[in-house]
Amino acid sequence: MSITETAANPHIKDVLADILEEHQHIEALMDRLKEACPIDRLQLLLNELHSTLMSHFAHEQYPGGFYEYLGARHPEHHEVLRELVDDHNFILSTVRGLLERARLGDPQSTSGVAQEVADLAKRIEGHELRERDLVKQLEQAV
Ligand SMILES: [Fe+2]
Ligand SMILES: [Fe+2]
Repeated sequence: MSITETAANPHIKDVLADILEEHQHIEALMDRLKEACPIDRLQLLLNELHSTLMSHFAHEQYPGGFYEYLGARHPEHHEVLRELVDDHNFILSTVRGLLERARLGDPQSTSGVAQEVADLAKRIEGHELRERDLVKQLEQAV
């Protein structure tokens, strides 16, 4: 599919609606994660967060999806798009780091995890908020 065809993607409204729905799912998951105390539950939720984010970020970046549409239709957002992709990499690597520490399970490796989960939640929230604003702009322009 060429960029021009993608820019005219007739399914873009559905794509954008799906993205917003996935954001709600991630938000609910982060709320559960922030409350997770026992280490086994933390590990379980971090695993779920990792696979959910992998799928969500792939969905946003896939050919014909949100990011390509935004890049093709709104070159003025090129820099923002680059930052959002960087965010995806940073967020995933942070989740992997937390997951690795939760797997180790000893108190030393898990000390400070709660604060880092809270920081991660803020980072994800800021990222999704930025995207939500962009989705709203695109929806108005469709
Ligand atoms: Fe994203
Ligand atoms: Fe997103």
